[in-house]
Amino acid sequence: MEKIRASIIGGSGYTGGELIRLLLFHPNVELCEITSESLVGKYIYKAHPNLRKSTNLKFSSLSEIENCDVLFLCMPHGQSQKSIETYKQKAGKIIDLAADFRLKDLAEYEKWYGHSNSNPTALSEFVYGIPELHRDEMKSSDFVSSAGCNATVSILSMYPFYKEGLVDTERTVIEVKVGTSEGGNKYSASSHHPERSGSLRSYMPLQHRHSAEIVQELSFDEKISVNFSATSVDMVRGVLATIHLFTNEKLNDKDVWKLYRKYYYDEPFIRIVKEREGIYRYPEPKLLIGSNYCDVGFAVDDTSNRIVLIGAIDNLMKGAAGQAVQAFNIINGLEETTGLTFPGFHPI
Ligand SMILES: NC(=O)c1ccc[n+]([C@@H]2O[C@H](COP(=O)([O-])OP(=O)(O)OC[C@H]3O[C@@H](n4cnc5c(N)ncnc54)[C@H](OP(=O)(O)O)[C@@H]3O)[C@@H](O)[C@H]2O)c1
Repeated sequence: MEKIRASIIGGSGYTGGELIRLLLFHPNVELCEITSESLVGKYIYKAHPNLRKSTNLKFSSLSEIENCDVLFLCMPHGQSQKSIETYKQKAGKIIDLAADFRLKDLAEYEKWYGHSNSNPTALSEFVYGIPELHRDEMKSSDFVSSAGCNATVSILSMYPFYKEGLVDTERTVIEVKVGTSEGGNKYSASSHHPERSGSLRSYMPLQHRHSAEIVQELSFDEKISVNFSATSVDMVRGVLATIHLFTNEKLNDKDVWKLYRKYYYDEPFIRIVKEREGIYRYPEPKLLIGSNYCDVGFAVDDTSNRIVLIGAIDNLMKGAAGQAVQAFNIINGLEETTGLTFPGFHPI
């Protein structure tokens, strides 16, 4: 089979680095160009030292980018919508990792991002990028907007409950603990080592934009609301979501097992993690580092209708590059797991 020619815009950043790592070893991909304005002409390993000897490619400039089959966009928010028409001239298929085209309702986009979207028609062209929810739409689409990392783990943890109409929709509380790489590779006062090391910082107790994605994806018969908070913790990669979900009727352990199995038994990248003993009884982000898995677990509160859902991912993998490659496989008619079937590390 002829290889699919893929290029990456914004490849010197953290999600770009993970995409390069995945695509270099993907059996159906020829990785063509990777752009960085700050490192143009330099070897890829200058930004991604883990890839030394894996490739001799150098960074190109945006102005040099040639036509290819698939373009991955890994730029800061707001850039894709400005130049999407130019990118469409370069490639028939596009996967955007930023938030530019995730929200389908323009008014919601404006509310959460505080400005109008400069390419509103593209909002409906791009399929929201969680394959477990949208693989059928992806099969007939050329454009995918990868989901936010916190949204991904939250949605996957809760999806079966909302889809089945089991949730008391006013009461859900989601608390995510996130690693530093979520913020990308640009330095800031808050990422300065003395300020960041050892910290446990409530950085977004309210108004996190990923709430809007969760509401969009989990509203079926009615528009739901969720109470979402994010805390940054002292780790580089990983997201742990602890979700307090209240059901309309009391469920027990067996019911929840049955529900998760119904939706996720055949899912190649979702694992149900709930053990009675040992230290790894629930999902833990550390074990997922570098892998495309999303682990989901739960504990049922005997005294109320509350179920605590626990979800974990690597934000740069299932929350970004891994999810994007999964979508790439689908839109190109490949086996969905191609180039992604490896576990994380242990111990790490
Ligand atoms: N980090 C995560 O966990 C995560 C997860 C899911 C989604 N995302 C989203 O994915 C996108 C990339 O995130 P990241 O963490 O990889 O960010 P990053 O580490 O800051 O990298 C951003 C990249 O974009 C390039 N860039 C900056 N301005 C540009 C412009 N105007 N035109 C073209 N390229 C430009 C930068 O390259 P040069 O400056 O060298 O040109 C750099 O390679 C963001 O929209 C982010 O929200 C991130």
